[in-house]
Amino acid sequence: MGKFVLNLLSVYLLALSCQMRSFPARVAFDIRNHLSTKNRYAFRLSIPNAPSIYDYPDPDGYKPLYLWLISRHGTRWPTKGRMSEINTLERLFMDASNVEKYPWLEMWQSPTKGMDIASGELHDVGNEEMWSLAWRLRKRFPTIVAQQYFPKRYSIVSSQVSRAAASAAAFASGFFPPISQPDFADCSTASLGAAVLKEDALCRDRQLKGEGPILTRPQAVAITMSPKDADPLLRFFDICPAYEAQEKRTGAILDPWMEANWSLLAPKLEQRLGMNRTLSASEVEALWQLCLWEAGVQNQTSQACQLFLPSEVSLLEWMDDVDLLENHGYGASINYQMAAPLLGDLVASLQDVANQKSPWERARLLFGHCETLIPLASLMGLFNQLQEDYRSNGEASLSLTESTSLQSDYVFNDDSALHDAYHYNLKLRLKSSRTSTLWQPTIPLRLDRMWRGSRIAPYGSNMFLVLYRKQTSGSSTGPQHLVRLVYNEQVIPIPKCGGVLLDDGVFSSNVDHAKMSVEMGSLGMDCDLEKFLDLYQSMAADPQSLDRICALHSTVATS
Ligand SMILES: *[C@@H]1O[C@H](CO)[C@@H](O)[C@H](O)[C@H]1NC(C)=O
Ligand SMILES: *[C@@H]1O[C@H](CO)[C@@H](O)[C@H](O)[C@H]1NC(C)=O
Ligand SMILES: *[C@@H]1O[C@H](CO)[C@@H](O)[C@H](O)[C@H]1NC(C)=O
Repeated sequence: MGKFVLNLLSVYLLALSCQMRSFPARVAFDIRNHLSTKNRYAFRLSIPNAPSIYDYPDPDGYKPLYLWLISRHGTRWPTKGRMSEINTLERLFMDASNVEKYPWLEMWQSPTKGMDIASGELHDVGNEEMWSLAWRLRKRFPTIVAQQYFPKRYSIVSSQVSRAAASAAAFASGFFPPISQPDFADCSTASLGAAVLKEDALCRDRQLKGEGPILTRPQAVAITMSPKDADPLLRFFDICPAYEAQEKRTGAILDPWMEANWSLLAPKLEQRLGMNRTLSASEVEALWQLCLWEAGVQNQTSQACQLFLPSEVSLLEWMDDVDLLENHGYGASINYQMAAPLLGDLVASLQDVANQKSPWERARLLFGHCETLIPLASLMGLFNQLQEDYRSNGEASLSLTESTSLQSDYVFNDDSALHDAYHYNLKLRLKSSRTSTLWQPTIPLRLDRMWRGSRIAPYGSNMFLVLYRKQTSGSSTGPQHLVRLVYNEQVIPIPKCGGVLLDDGVFSSNVDHAKMSVEMGSLGMDCDLEKFLDLYQSMAADPQSLDRICALHSTVATS
């Protein structure tokens, strides 16, 4: 492929992306996909221009060999703290008089009252999410799932938190084919009053001949986990002093900012509710939490959510997305550097299977948290807002973003410069923390931003890599192994590797990749394993390295 053709292509793509920017699709506002990290998986936002894994065929001449998956747990009940927040609303609604407009106010009872037993646990909705994700993957990758279950062939790892473990169990029950067996239930003579558990040999014999009913049961699996306070793979954020320190610094800036913005909404809510008193910032937050619960879990959008205008929902959603970025994403380097052992697990797993060190392995399935997935995605360079804005808008149109401060930092050429810019921003922001007026979020309050929790971190969000091996019988001249990256069941290019490259080696997101790869006869969005290892091995670490990464001196200096 000559440079000339690529140049033409990039001009064409640029035109295409400009067009897409100036005519944003107008779709009806549905609050159920504005819930940030409380979004139900089924209502998640798609990743623009990324094909579904179910429409994007396996690379020609290659066979799927291995799957490495990390998933956030499915939709859950509110945590204990959130439940008490929601419960306080019973008092609040007693002081609200606008029952004419909101008749539900009158008899309102907190849906979480007395539900402490369920706090933080996987909800039925989440159970369904995990099961059906697994079911779809089983259909899509039958050869990976086809073999007899052994823990060494299919490792299932969860964090030591019951919603994650339950998610792993729900996933496993959908992923592995069920086992059929005769129904032995009536074969015990115990029911006849004989010795307990003494079996009726004739009865059993009949059933083995297939004369009795056949039962199916899910494959029983082993789920392994590390203690909650010693889990460098899935709960690194709990054992990382540098991160803790960073979180405190971020909170010092972010918390007052969040409160200020909740307070902005208070007068409007007081008026709508017909309150005889003022609302506090935390009460505004509690109302938002109730709306998140109703719309996300109960699929109920006509009660608490009606208290907010779409523009206010977008503001609240954005605030949650800012929080996600600052505390778990690109906001600070330690946020994602501590995911290095998890990346190490991924890299080593792919390598070991490819090198036939563990030729029996077919899948490694990990179940954790938003705080596990987003740092890994960030470490790998996914959903990089500034990068996306910069690359798809061009430098000139950056003024579109509402973050007017520090815009000169938005000019960069590669990811490391980008990260430096972030750190620079952070330093400035930290310096100004006493006079927090200087601080501005780095993602725009604009709905076409890439960094949205409802896109990248809804309940049940997941990322997996498929390792493909070249078939010996095939005529392909490509590499021995390919890696494909799939996020929420959409195929996305591996930063700097898969995807259509423009002539400056920069990935463009506004491209019909499936079409392009067919036209260009390239590897499409898949990445040569060798290249993948080159790119990511240096960022990866073993679990023992977490201590070094998380040592307090390794954080960004505050002065
Ligand atoms: C507001 O109204 C409620 C119910 O009518 C009443 O119990 C409460 O004392 C009132 N609060 C104020 C501050 O007037
Ligand atoms: C959020 O609060 C800050 C601090 O009061 C304020 O400067 C900013 O304008 C608010 N943002 C929005 C979108 O209202
Ligand atoms: C959610 O509610 C709508 C009606 O508002 C209904 O059409 C839809 O099927 C429901 N979805 C789920 C997943 O329950």
